[in-house]
Amino acid sequence: VGQDWLWFGRLTKTDAELQALLSDADTQFFTLTKDGRDEALLELKFTADGTCELAYFGLTPALIGSGAGRYLMNHAIRSAWARPISRFHLHTCTLDSPQALSFYVRSGFTPFKRQVEVADDPRLIDLLDKDAGAHVPTIG
Ligand SMILES: CC(C)(COP(=O)(O)OP(=O)(O)OC[C@H]1O[C@@H](n2cnc3c(N)ncnc32)[C@H](O)[C@@H]1OP(=O)(O)O)[C@@H](O)C(=O)NCCC(=O)NCCS
Repeated sequence: VGQDWLWFGRLTKTDAELQALLSDADTQFFTLTKDGRDEALLELKFTADGTCELAYFGLTPALIGSGAGRYLMNHAIRSAWARPISRFHLHTCTLDSPQALSFYVRSGFTPFKRQVEVADDPRLIDLLDKDAGAHVPTIG
């Protein structure tokens, strides 16, 4: 899901750290399956202060533009508010799909903060293939 958008946060984790994430009772994971393959990722992270973060949300090219994103977002909203939370939030970034921000606004989210984050290009530190996210120039 994240290769084209240069997602790398989980690629720095060890198998044990990933297993701990998958076993966390306060985190829910969902996918959508097409032709027997998982083609989407939804991760909801609940915290003790009554918030839920839409931690990961995305479709592979096999599902983008098919209506699957709206279906999965409706599931996310229902699942988040099924618990006694008072806030449902997410982070998106300029490297994500250009459709993401308007999609989230149509889903009911309100932009409230913008910030600059600096990280190494994951293609230059061998976390992702050199040809990942080909629409984003590499500064070598
Ligand atoms: C962000 C993302 C989920 C948006 O999904 P998308 O399909 O690209 O979004 P679009 O805006 O093109 O299409 C969604 C809209 O078209 C509708 N649609 C498109 N094709 C459709 C079809 N064949 N049948 C029914 N509805 C369809 C959807 O219902 C939806 O309408 P609505 O938002 O008005 O309810 C998707 O682009 C994605 O996963 N991108 C990669 C990962 C990413 O950037 N994630 C965000 C990280 S924060």
